[in-house]
Amino acid sequence: MEAINTYGTSVSASRISAGERQVHRDLETALAQLHGVADAVSFVGGHATNVSVIGDLLGAEDLLVTDVAIHNSITEGAKLSGAKRILCQHGDLDAMERALRLNRARCRRALIVVEGLYSMDGDVPDLAQLIKLKRRYNSWLMVDEAHSCGVLGASGRGIAEEQNIDPTEVDIWMGTLSKSFVAVGGYIAGSRPLIELLRYTSPGFVFSVGQSPPLAAAALAAIKVMQAEPWRLEKLRQNGRAFAAGARRRGFDIGPTIGASVVPIIVGNSPHAVMLSQRLLARGYNVVPAIFPGVPENQARLRFFITSEHTLEQIEGTLDAVAEELTALRNAPSLVSMVTQA
Ligand SMILES: Cc1ncc(COP(=O)(O)O)c(C=O)c1O
Repeated sequence: MEAINTYGTSVSASRISAGERQVHRDLETALAQLHGVADAVSFVGGHATNVSVIGDLLGAEDLLVTDVAIHNSITEGAKLSGAKRILCQHGDLDAMERALRLNRARCRRALIVVEGLYSMDGDVPDLAQLIKLKRRYNSWLMVDEAHSCGVLGASGRGIAEEQNIDPTEVDIWMGTLSKSFVAVGGYIAGSRPLIELLRYTSPGFVFSVGQSPPLAAAALAAIKVMQAEPWRLEKLRQNGRAFAAGARRRGFDIGPTIGASVVPIIVGNSPHAVMLSQRLLARGYNVVPAIFPGVPENQARLRFFITSEHTLEQIEGTLDAVAEELTALRNAPSLVSMVTQA
């Protein structure tokens, strides 16, 4: 409310012309400090950040090496850039090494992109190994922290804090404000020259309106709350572990998740995932299915997002409900035979 009273709901212009407000810079300073790097720049959307930044930094002579599970925004940025793109099996650093070994010399620049906490599987990359790889092949490393910042690390600073890595070893930190930071927007954090370059060249920054002030203020407030109340991160961690342990105990396939905020329950086909989600909604549990083409058809799942405010009773109650409804679904007549009879 204070931001609305001070700045209004829209800045009505690009930051580079008349749209810059102090709240933007305050947020960017907080984001840079959070990541432990020199500077940050914020954009109006997380998806738009990846599209614009990758589309702008790379060109047709360049190489992009990504994990197959990477978010669509990276893929769209890659398409826009025209760079040669190599997808590697999820978590397969050997495949990334091979892709760089076979292609690096033929390309002007190379960018490796991973997620700090994978949004579909809830697992993490080995950052130390990726840094070795990027050094060996003279490449840039970009980490999308959409699901990691505000979750991983004792003070919520993301995968670098979690894995005890010097954050300046990563060239490009990307994040979104729409998850832990309860607003809308995206950002890039990194070295001063990188951020300066993006401020003057990235189309999504130069030609788009500055972020809505109340959203920037909300994200900034969320960062302050997280820093002032670290118990939230510890509680989130406990809840995530409890959910993953309870799911395993009941025999669910939860894939490679580390049991942080994202824990999938893989049910194996899209109709089951959708019907299970509807049955759970009818019982008061709101969990959205992730189905093909978001994930391979045989990996269709319910994706649970755990927060610090869930209680153990809610977690156990959810898992019991999943067990009951999944058993009922699997014992029901198959959809194919129902269609045939009809
Ligand atoms: C890994 C990842 N990157 C980027 C985005 C895009 O962020 P936003 O939804 O805030 O635009 C998302 C959103 O789901 C995401 O999961």
